[in-house]
Amino acid sequence: MDPPPTGLAATPPLGWNSWNAFSCEVTESDIRAAADALVETGLRDAGYEYVVVDDCWMASELDGDGRLQPSADFPNGMAALADYVHDRGLRFGLYSSAGTETCQGYPASLGRERLHAEQFAEWGVDYLKYDNCGDHRGRDAIDRYAAMGEALAGVDRDIVYSICEWGKNQPWEWGRNVGGHLWRATDDLVAKWRADPDEFGLGVADVLDRMADIDAAAAHGPGGWNDPDMLQIGNGPQSGQSEHEPVDVQRPLTEAEQRTHFAFWCLLAAPLMIGTDLTSLSAFDRELLTNERLLAIDQDPLGIQGTPDRRGADEEIWSKRLHDGGAAVAFHNRGASERELSTHVSAVDVRNSADRYRVCDCWTGNEWETSGPLAMTVKPRDTAIVRVTPQ
Ligand code: GAL
Repeated sequence: MDPPPTGLAATPPLGWNSWNAFSCEVTESDIRAAADALVETGLRDAGYEYVVVDDCWMASELDGDGRLQPSADFPNGMAALADYVHDRGLRFGLYSSAGTETCQGYPASLGRERLHAEQFAEWGVDYLKYDNCGDHRGRDAIDRYAAMGEALAGVDRDIVYSICEWGKNQPWEWGRNVGGHLWRATDDLVAKWRADPDEFGLGVADVLDRMADIDAAAAHGPGGWNDPDMLQIGNGPQSGQSEHEPVDVQRPLTEAEQRTHFAFWCLLAAPLMIGTDLTSLSAFDRELLTNERLLAIDQDPLGIQGTPDRRGADEEIWSKRLHDGGAAVAFHNRGASERELSTHVSAVDVRNSADRYRVCDCWTGNEWETSGPLAMTVKPRDTAIVRVTPQ
């Protein structure tokens, strides 16, 4: 499939979104602080460029003409906030919904797509996250998302269109055709390894299972990306929690689980939207989020989504073809004890004509050579990820 004419999102978009950190309590000063922190932490220079205000930025009433207006928590308005973000070398994003209301009950854009798209363009919006809440007035998802896609295409500004339909109607089959640059393939990711099935949201392992099960990888590539939802890195572990304590589905993510989360989102070539409060980012999280070897895998120009080569109860091997003929290979330990996981270049998505391959451990940077066998020792819930390059 050809990328959309604007050439936007040639690689998966990277940035920060307010929802996982601030939910409905978000304010203008939180957004300014996040923009400042993206610069100060080096995240902007690592490639994270979008600052997206999620739900709850709008006042509870539209104005007399049906326009969205910012709430009192955004006292200087959205154009001034966009300027603030742009002045820091970043891009600005906003949120609305393809229904009568947002998920938190604020006014949304169904039936007012053109008017709202014009507002977004006037304000200097570069990215729209478009949710699926509110009354749909009997219109199906493709029709509702196409209406905003057309409206965005009709304004004089490049706006990345992030479809947040939760994967309910296979948006990978129609997302590009309605002008989308990324589309959620799953329900919301919460900061857990496995979510309680009776509660809202999915854990990291639940999302990985879903991404392995759906047949969406072929639709994924430059200009149009499957989105396994925003990052929960930085939203665990709680202080005092040991990485090796027995597993409880209700507790937040350990460091090993966060490594798995980030390694797999990069292997999937997922959009990476950071979702933690950047003003209290830990050194561990900063290092994880700015790992250049991982980001190069995420941003590889071929734009291929990694897929599983082998999935067992306790062991998974996934790989992703890279533009240089090499591959990223992930060794994921789902079990409760440390184990060695092994595979061979002939079993992963790498060009198989070479006699020798260089292997680089993406966590440590250590390099070695192999004629074919690949083996990594992996802690429970952790993931080793290597880059394999034919010599
Ligand atoms: C959900 C969406 C979340 C967040 C939330 C805001 O539908 O999946 O990512 O945007 O709404 O209310």
